[in-house]
Amino acid sequence: MGDTWQSVMDHAVGLARTAGALVREAVQPDMKVMLKSSSVDLVTQTDQKVEQLIIQSVKEKYPTHSFIGEESVAAGEACVLTDNPTWIVDPVDGTTNFVHGYPFVAVSIGFAVNRELEFGVVYSCIEDKMYTARRGKGAFCNGIPLQVSQNTDINQSIVATEFGSNRDPEVVDKIFSSLRKILCLPVHGIRGVGTAATNMCLVASGCVDVYYETGVHCWDFAAGAVIVTEAGGVLMDVGGGPLDLMSRRVVAANNKTIAQRIIKEIDAFTPTRDDDPIEPNTTK
Ligand code: IPD
Ligand code: CA
Repeated sequence: MGDTWQSVMDHAVGLARTAGALVREAVQPDMKVMLKSSSVDLVTQTDQKVEQLIIQSVKEKYPTHSFIGEESVAAGEACVLTDNPTWIVDPVDGTTNFVHGYPFVAVSIGFAVNRELEFGVVYSCIEDKMYTARRGKGAFCNGIPLQVSQNTDINQSIVATEFGSNRDPEVVDKIFSSLRKILCLPVHGIRGVGTAATNMCLVASGCVDVYYETGVHCWDFAAGAVIVTEAGGVLMDVGGGPLDLMSRRVVAANNKTIAQRIIKEIDAFTPTRDDDPIEPNTTK
């Protein structure tokens, strides 16, 4: 039987490669930086240009498909996942890295049908690493199969997380209290490359045992979610329940033992949801 969505995935891989080349070429000192919700929530013309390129291509080739993109949502589009085939796109994951020339920046394309993720494509464009996963068919980096680590001992693990862009002191306190507990378990180390999508691909690759974050968005982790599960890993909510794509909370681990162990140390908090109704004249 044919695979209905494989050709869509092939198109997404081509788009990610084109988009990534644009991002790579645009890395240069003194680029114009604009602000979104705060002074640490950055956006550039490249983020907007690359998202437009992807939207235009999707509209032309798949006119009935829906689209959730970071910059479209920032411009006021609703962020609602329906049963319709939906592209969930971050044109530049790691915008702060991109602005500073820190060499981890990814184009992230997830694709869901009936609210279930069908494939994920993450192109870490500075490293030229193309991560891909199709539901039920495995995860790959530049065509080489990926497998999560086999480690079940938190004391022998590398944990990845990010600080995000929320500088509310109460939120920062929770981030640091969690970090303190995790560091003192002790774990072998704590890392974070500045892009949620790439952190998840590192879990899929086996060099990071678990990644968690509160405050991410669906476009940051939808594609990575498929890549992690297809590499043998698991996804959960930071509170221990099942992953909710719109909740802005994610744990991506090599296995359930590590996921459940790290969750015990996380001081969970609840940000606004991605699919909260848009309130006029406010920013999330
Ligand atoms: C951000 C990155 C970062 C994570 C933030 C994301 P952006 O995405 O993935 O690592 O900490 O939560 O919003 O803004 O660079 O696309
Ligand atoms: Ca982005």
